[in-house]
Amino acid sequence: GHEQSFRNQDQVGDLEFQWVREYGAAFRLKGVLGEDALMVADPKAIQHILHTSGYRYPRATLSQRNAEELFGHGILAAKGATHARHRKIMTPAFSHGQLKTFSRLFQLLAGDLTEKMVEITRTTGFEAPINLHMWLGRVTLDAIGRAGFGYDFGSIQDTDNELAEILNNIFVDNVKPGIYTYVANWIWGRAPTFLRRVIDFFPTKRAIRFRHFQKMSKAAAKEMLEGAKDQTDFMSGKDIVSVLMRANESEDAARRLSEDEVLSQASTMILAGHETSASTLSWVFYELSKHQDIQSAIRDEINEVRSRYPNKGEIPTREFENMTVLNAVLNESLRMHPTAPILFRRAAQDDVIPLAEPIITSRGVPVKEITVPKGQHVHIAIHAYNRFGLPDIWGEDAHTWRPDRWLEKRKDDAITVGVFNM
Ligand code: HEM
Repeated sequence: GHEQSFRNQDQVGDLEFQWVREYGAAFRLKGVLGEDALMVADPKAIQHILHTSGYRYPRATLSQRNAEELFGHGILAAKGATHARHRKIMTPAFSHGQLKTFSRLFQLLAGDLTEKMVEITRTTGFEAPINLHMWLGRVTLDAIGRAGFGYDFGSIQDTDNELAEILNNIFVDNVKPGIYTYVANWIWGRAPTFLRRVIDFFPTKRAIRFRHFQKMSKAAAKEMLEGAKDQTDFMSGKDIVSVLMRANESEDAARRLSEDEVLSQASTMILAGHETSASTLSWVFYELSKHQDIQSAIRDEINEVRSRYPNKGEIPTREFENMTVLNAVLNESLRMHPTAPILFRRAAQDDVIPLAEPIITSRGVPVKEITVPKGQHVHIAIHAYNRFGLPDIWGEDAHTWRPDRWLEKRKDDAITVGVFNM
């Protein structure tokens, strides 16, 4: 079916872009053995599926299986009421106020990375290539360890860090999977529980890697939580460690996480927080290296703000909101290069999905909503939405990385699906 084509593209998104151009922002695809899937890039449809409809569109079975293999029983593998419980417990750790408290730490880590880069170029010379993505992965791992758990992985300094090494290769075969992978996944997705257990008894290389990560990250999480027990006043704190430890001790079933859930949650945070941020930053630096004028503008902006705080050498959090070039560069990079280009969901019940822009059916009839049966596979084309959305959101140059668009007045600010700030 089409599934193999869009998972084997040379440039991620090219096919979805072509399809949206041809058929509009919602269309049918054929999956393994001709199974139907609905792909949507329409803002109203995405809003309906992700935001307004709660658990009517849970993650697809295979996405949940991957999450379970990677993390165990954390938020990304949880469903329905369990997911709601996890989410309620974790939300305070992600409030704006809480995140602002990490600004100093993140600037310190950026300083450590800069020193490392200088050290490398001193030894290898300015012409030698540097694997920046690998180093960004290390710095974001240290950031999540220290901000989330008060634990120093020390991966910028320690080049043999085992967890950093595992994380570096974890999704190595995500790109261009072979046909057997689809068929095996298709069979697993439809197999009864006992048969799934039998299949899982013979893990693929990928499953072995995922399980190894789970084992190692849970062991690290156990160590982090043990270490934090004596040092943290976890009854009042809103950091990840405090939130998790409080939940583990809670008598209230609606606010409690078992020990396994706590460790799974920690393992989820380590991967979800680190890989996404590292990839996004890699794209930021890639685009800045291609756009020297914007690189100069962002450097000037940072230097200007820093010059106003010469003693501390550190930028206070309140300044970030006014750093227009920096914010525009980040937003534009998230738009152009989403780390999750497609989200895979499944309708938990019969439903009607509304559309912002009508599409024309194969019989030539314009429709403004799509009826879907329970069990319908729905692929949310984040990448295509970020490039097209409504025709006049991004304009003619939607395929160009142009941070300035964020400084101009948007034509339709009403629709904020928030594809890159979920
Ligand atoms: C640029 C950085 C990031 C990007 C692009 C990003 C992207 C995403 C996306 C697309 C999802 C939805 C996945 C789905 O519905 O299947 C998601 C969920 C999630 N992310 Fe991130 N993320 C980023 C940073 C982080 C960080 C720093 C953390 C934690 C420290 C984090 C933790 C999570 C968690 C726990 C979920 C699951 C939420 C839920 O199920 O309710 N993410 N992220």
